[in-house]
Amino acid sequence: MNDMTPSSDPPPVAASTVAEALLTRRSVRAFLPTPVPRDLIERLLALAARSASNSNCQPWHVHVLSGGAKRRLTEDLWRALDANGGATVREYPYQPSPESWREPFRSRRHCFGVGLYRDTLGIDAANTEGRLAHHRRNYDFFGAPVGMILTVSEHPLASGLVDAGLFLQALMLAARQAGLDTCPQASFIDFYPVLRRHLKIPDDQITVCGLALGYADQHHRLNHYRTTREPVREFTTFHGDEPAGSQVSPA
Ligand SMILES: Cc1cc2nc3c(=O)[nH]c(=O)nc-3n(C[C@H](O)[C@H](O)[C@H](O)COP(=O)(O)O)c2cc1C
Repeated sequence: MNDMTPSSDPPPVAASTVAEALLTRRSVRAFLPTPVPRDLIERLLALAARSASNSNCQPWHVHVLSGGAKRRLTEDLWRALDANGGATVREYPYQPSPESWREPFRSRRHCFGVGLYRDTLGIDAANTEGRLAHHRRNYDFFGAPVGMILTVSEHPLASGLVDAGLFLQALMLAARQAGLDTCPQASFIDFYPVLRRHLKIPDDQITVCGLALGYADQHHRLNHYRTTREPVREFTTFHGDEPAGSQVSPA
């Protein structure tokens, strides 16, 4: 869908199949300042809204921020981060505390952290200042021209979160087709009171995550990091008869 991209330099590489979108989507953490036209954002949101949802409830809501509105939110969030170091109570249980993660997630999480902080950024585990400096960049959406905050109706919470996940993935894939990149960001939920106040989020909505959207800075070292995946056999159980000679694909 190259007709959806503005004539910016360098030309973004767009995905033209679902498989390409899946394979080229990755979390981008450094963006070019190139603006994303509003009609393109609306088109991506319209595509994402085609996602399935429980009984077609479509419980999602998206706050789209750019320019001064985005900057003001970032400043508010940085003030909150600087005031309390980021230690906040979340609106709902999101993930275990750092010490209570279980295997295999503990090791995968560790591996991700080492890959990002030590191998990509050269920040070792003891360098709390360096880690915080990187973490802080979450709140300016890693320099993306567009920041989104995805919220969902808390009624009923579990199905709403599933639906929001589908919406989020669809949005990220549609972005790839337009030559855009994204980073989903749960960091934002640490400051849900700031988001609530700033964006006037109603009480019956909860914050799912943020999303940075823009054109990747392909030369930035942060965007050279690639995460790995477990092979299909690690997370799949087939029940039923296997046709003779067929095998589970190794990847
Ligand atoms: C719901 C969700 C929240 C995330 N929150 C953050 C975040 O706050 N900051 C960040 O840099 N990455 C965040 N990520 C990105 C993950 O670290 C990333 O998806 C994972 O390591 C796999 O890498 P990939 O997206 O490059 O394939 C989040 C991803 C998801 C799905």
